[in-house]
Amino acid sequence: MDKLKVGILGATGTVGQRFVQLLEDHPWFEVAYLAASERSAGKRYGDACAWKLPTPMPERVRSLVVQEPKPGAFDGPLVFSGLTGDVAGPVEEEFAKADYGVVSNASSHRMDPDVPLLIPEINPDHLQLIKAQQEKRGWKGFIVTNPNCSTIALCLALAPLEREFGVEKVWVSTMQAVSGAGYPGVPSLDILGNLIPYIPKEEQKIEEETRKIFGHFAQNANAIEPHPMGISAQTTRVPVLEGHTETVFVKLREEAPLDEIKRSLREFKALPQELGLPSTPECPVVVREEPDRPQPRLDAEMERGMVTVVGRVRPCPLTSVKFVLLEHNTIRGAAGAALLNAELLKAQGYLQ
Ligand SMILES: NC(=O)c1ccc[n+]([C@@H]2O[C@H](COP(=O)([O-])OP(=O)(O)OC[C@H]3O[C@@H](n4cnc5c(N)ncnc54)[C@H](OP(=O)(O)O)[C@@H]3O)[C@@H](O)[C@H]2O)c1
Repeated sequence: MDKLKVGILGATGTVGQRFVQLLEDHPWFEVAYLAASERSAGKRYGDACAWKLPTPMPERVRSLVVQEPKPGAFDGPLVFSGLTGDVAGPVEEEFAKADYGVVSNASSHRMDPDVPLLIPEINPDHLQLIKAQQEKRGWKGFIVTNPNCSTIALCLALAPLEREFGVEKVWVSTMQAVSGAGYPGVPSLDILGNLIPYIPKEEQKIEEETRKIFGHFAQNANAIEPHPMGISAQTTRVPVLEGHTETVFVKLREEAPLDEIKRSLREFKALPQELGLPSTPECPVVVREEPDRPQPRLDAEMERGMVTVVGRVRPCPLTSVKFVLLEHNTIRGAAGAALLNAELLKAQGYLQ
């Protein structure tokens, strides 16, 4: 099979570098175009990018010249976007207008009523919004978004519980890694030996996005009806490099014994596993039994960073169950999530 040519917008950033890393030797996609700001445009990627990953920069991309993000510079069906939120919105629209599929990490279009907010294990049916989006906006391309990093981690753990018992209410507190703020991100003097109990707009994102993700696609209205679950989030930034940790309390609609809850988390499988998409983990949720796991330094890279690792699953005196979860925020929370979205789009015929 010939590989599809893809581009990366925001290729020099934290998420952009993960895209470059994950796309090296990908069986379906090959990087043909890299874009970033005017600060990087015109330079070779090897010179423009302050590479921060432990694996070497792939040779293939090192000599590609970074461009400003303008459609038409390469002949391929798809761009991944790791642009900052302040610029992503209009740039992604330009690419969709020019017939590209855009798979975005940015928050700009996540809550647009005609844009899928996709987690392939949970709401692949929301891809039906693409047709309505193309008709309404008069473009042949499309925009598909992946959720906020903390939202993805939470939703993967809630998905089996919603499927088997129903989720009525959720309380979640996050301890988010510094890499979630991009590069150079939070100043070291603010975060070392410290915790910052505020991440702008993050709590609202978790609350709104979760209800959209679990929402019902109403065929007649071509729209998503948000899930009625109650959800309340608090978010903090902690001096961890990679890996967002969350403490979660869930009130189920139907009560269930603890071992049934654990079984449901452990056995959860969905469409990506059925289709055998290249980036899919065997099971999207891993349950640990040790009392002191998961930990970011030890567990963030489990299953190539593509899973939510759940631990300390136990009864809660106020709700049905409580647990701790961990996710690799720049892989399953960002570039890996977008890559899985693109693989689903390809498998379902949206990319030619
Ligand atoms: N980091 C995470 O864990 C994470 C998780 C989920 C979602 N996200 C989202 O992913 C996006 C990227 O985040 P990040 O952490 O990778 O940020 P980052 O490290 O700050 O990287 C930003 C990228 O955008 C480019 N850029 C900035 N201004 C631009 C402009 N005016 N025109 C064109 N390109 C421009 C930068 O290029 P230069 O290098 O040339 O400046 C860089 O490539 C954000 O929307 C963020 O909210 C991040």
